Amino acid sequence: MGASLYEPINVYKPVVPNIGIVDGPFEYLTVGGARLPLPFTTRMTVVRLSNGDLFLHSPIKFEGRLANELLGLGAIRHLVSPNQFHYAHIGEWAKAFPNAISWASPRVRERARARHVDVDFTRDLETRPPEEWRREIDQTLFPGGYFKEFIFFHKASNTLILADTILNIELDKITEPWRTATKFTGVPSLWSDFLWHAAAAIAPAAEGEDGN
Ligand SMILES: [Fe+2]
Repeated sequence: MGASLYEPINVYKPVVPNIGIVDGPFEYLTVGGARLPLPFTTRMTVVRLSNGDLFLHSPIKFEGRLANELLGLGAIRHLVSPNQFHYAHIGEWAKAFPNAISWASPRVRERARARHVDVDFTRDLETRPPEEWRREIDQTLFPGGYFKEFIFFHKASNTLILADTILNIELDKITEPWRTATKFTGVPSLWSDFLWHAAAAIAPAAEGEDGN
């Protein structure tokens, strides 16, 4: 089987009240500016705050029809980069919605600059959640060195929102030879499957560096 997407893409899929996910198109791992023929799926999480503002966690590639669908849910206000690998499309959404706030994670500005990704971050995430969502979403900086990220907790639904803190790699979504290579890493083990289900979390599927 070839690589496959989480169809349908670019549509809002409700998960719990006021939270949904949107699966995006494939993106590709780039190393040293060269694009590898390794497609990754992408996914963002959308939280609707009680004032109608939308919190877009790890925004996927901008698409006008999707933006219009989201506007039916609320105002696109918060564009959140949870870690330095999930930011690549924030600039596109910010151009379409200039009143949105682009939230930076540690080192993401340097990474975007080094990779010539056009994005201006408005504010920095901090250990304490900002006034804008602290009554509804808690957050903390989860340690992990290079991979550390801000993780979020939606209080009303007890939902943990993650990017790369927990990985769930579905091998049938990956083409060879990458599938075999991924198996050898040991990441798609029973243990990671167990963690995935036990956490009952919303976690974007694995995606390329700078994927979303
Ligand atoms: Fe990721």
